[in-house]
Amino acid sequence: MNNIDAKTHVRGQSIYLDDIPVIQGTLYAACFDSPMAHGVIKQLDISIAEQSKGVIKVITYKNIMGENQIGGIIPDEPLLAEHHVHFCGMPIALVIAETDEDARAAVKKIKVDIDPLPIITDARAAAAKGELIVPPRKFKLGDTTKAWNECAYIFEGTTETNGQEHLYIETQGAYAVPQENNSIKIYSSTQGPTAVQKTVSKVTGLAMHQIEIDVTRLGGGFGGKEDQANTWAALCAVAAHILKRPVKYALHRMEDMRMTGKRHPYSSDFRIGLNKDLKIMAYEATFYQNAGAAADLSSAVLERTLFHCTNSYYIPNVTATAYSCRTNLPPNTAFRGFGGPQGMFVIEAAIAKAADKLGIDKTVIQQKNLLQTDNELPYGQKLVSEAHECWNKADELYNIDKIKNDVENFNKKNNLYKKGMALMPICFGISFTNTMMNHARSLVHVYSDGSVNISTGAVEMGQGVNTKILQVAAQIFSINPNKIKINTTNTFRIANTSPSAASATADLNGKATLIACTEILNRLKQLTAEELKVDVTSIQLKNEKIIVDGKETELDWQKLVMLAFTKRVSLSEHAHYATPEIYFDKTKEKGHPFAYHVYGTAIITTTIDCLRGTYEVDSVKVVHDFGSSINKAIDLGQIEGGIVQGIGWMTMEEIIYDKDGKLRSNALSTYKVPDIYSVPKEMIIHFLHTDKDNLAIFKSKAVGEPPLMYGIGAYFALCDAIKAFNPSADIKFDAPMTPEKVLLNLYKKNSIAVSGVPIAHQV
Ligand code: MOS
Repeated sequence: MNNIDAKTHVRGQSIYLDDIPVIQGTLYAACFDSPMAHGVIKQLDISIAEQSKGVIKVITYKNIMGENQIGGIIPDEPLLAEHHVHFCGMPIALVIAETDEDARAAVKKIKVDIDPLPIITDARAAAAKGELIVPPRKFKLGDTTKAWNECAYIFEGTTETNGQEHLYIETQGAYAVPQENNSIKIYSSTQGPTAVQKTVSKVTGLAMHQIEIDVTRLGGGFGGKEDQANTWAALCAVAAHILKRPVKYALHRMEDMRMTGKRHPYSSDFRIGLNKDLKIMAYEATFYQNAGAAADLSSAVLERTLFHCTNSYYIPNVTATAYSCRTNLPPNTAFRGFGGPQGMFVIEAAIAKAADKLGIDKTVIQQKNLLQTDNELPYGQKLVSEAHECWNKADELYNIDKIKNDVENFNKKNNLYKKGMALMPICFGISFTNTMMNHARSLVHVYSDGSVNISTGAVEMGQGVNTKILQVAAQIFSINPNKIKINTTNTFRIANTSPSAASATADLNGKATLIACTEILNRLKQLTAEELKVDVTSIQLKNEKIIVDGKETELDWQKLVMLAFTKRVSLSEHAHYATPEIYFDKTKEKGHPFAYHVYGTAIITTTIDCLRGTYEVDSVKVVHDFGSSINKAIDLGQIEGGIVQGIGWMTMEEIIYDKDGKLRSNALSTYKVPDIYSVPKEMIIHFLHTDKDNLAIFKSKAVGEPPLMYGIGAYFALCDAIKAFNPSADIKFDAPMTPEKVLLNLYKKNSIAVSGVPIAHQV
């Protein structure tokens, strides 16, 4: 089935926040944000801005009638700065004006005098000063201290991974419209309508039942709108509540890049030990997460780094420690993979280092240590593994040795271009790591004409979740999909939602929809049994026909629904689903946190230009564990997008803050994301069919986050190509591997001279 949004998307008819027709009297907001990363506000002068053309009011923390607090997990983040600023881009004041232009012009007239305080931008520096967001976490399996004795080889190293700008095509924004009796309706570009509702409740002092959040769809989220959509909705709500007029704020791209947090950069240390047979016997890792100036979701992201610190490998002795470090950067936040990719990069680097020092192929160590069913992970969960299946199928379909030979042959014949290859197996746990968040609700109405309207907590952000939910209902009722409409996500229809995140949205909301539809279906069958005087077990609804004992009856879907209506049978259901089997004990750091795991193996090949340091990703060949996909087109889209986004993070997207904590890569001219020319020249995705996981909706496994991590393979494929040119290059594990870094590594000082390369190109 096609994505139900396809037609309106290509016609430009899909409604995003900025497309909502505004109500007469709507005012526009713009934020004045801190020009300094750390300091004490001595004086704030809003007087000139207040007199500026079209300005209705300039709001500061003093005007907030509720609590000036938006911290989700930890209350450590004011909505508007009071006396301290903690990062460049921290909101200080909000101008409300008749037009967008007037508001932004007035922002420029605000003056602030800040006494500077020392600025920390580096995670390790913050940890050294004891600047931690939460106490450190430690996951342990076996005993690494003892295990080092069993190791024939031990290697150590450090790694860096940079952040990543979400770059959703639709920037952050909100539109708050006052309703009667002090209540308020807010259209928000958010992954988490309930988080917005709670935050607005806190800052306005209104109870949650007075606050309606409505979301039609997002132009991308990627985690950036899981928590950080709250700010803009809260600002609009405060202004609308004070002024009793609708207030809208849609951020400009540079405001968005400057004021919002990104993927967490990590600095990490590793120590890996292998026995003579190249089995990894021990692994120690220490992660320093750059959290930015406030907690946001950092502690949860930190936890997922630990969950995925051994990626797709079984290691019997593991000690992994993680620090969430407070720095003077915008609070970093969720980003596709949620800390998992950062953890996986480190184990891949450790294996690469071991392979390099032992003079063997990285793939040999990877393959020997792949997870098997019933292996225990450091957090205590034993798995059903598809790791070997994915790897072996990739070998069978794509022939790993042949790819390796082709790369070697190319490199023998070419001096100015070199190829490299890498394999990237993945294992990603599906569920919110916070067990209490794994639940959802669905509200299904069947109207008397037989059409169906469904509301859930799922937010459509381009990932196709609405299409999947529609498919669930169409299958249970066995009716034409065009009889079904998926509603906007609305906190008055569906309460207490978890954000659309953790790849779990289709599973959670799909299962709730399945339950609701099944309840209604059972009532319809019961009615049929009474009406036709047949046994209920003999009744089937198929293609809108009512079948009894395999024979068509005079009843069809439409007639049966109308009959139910006249007989006063309920045609609506509100169902609740909570993922069974999962739990986690934080005091022991053990449990069964995931409903299931998603596996896969990617083979990535790259070509580098050894004069320029530029490169191309030649191919990404994947065997991915989809379970039993209910929508291959949507799942393929998620895989392809995830891979390209992962490659972007690992190879070209470079966030640069200067030592004053100012974002230098603050526009698309200085921050390079993959474009159509940088996508792999070839992407082949094989759907591995697996059927062991009943907690996936119709056994169709979650697909949102896992494929991003295939991109890590691109980093190591580039290292491999660099080594082909400069075998002695001691390449630092420092992602992204930008063309500049490739070039420097190609000509590192103690490199072996390669014939045919002009000396002028050595640096
Ligand atoms: Mo997603 S990174 O779990 O919002």
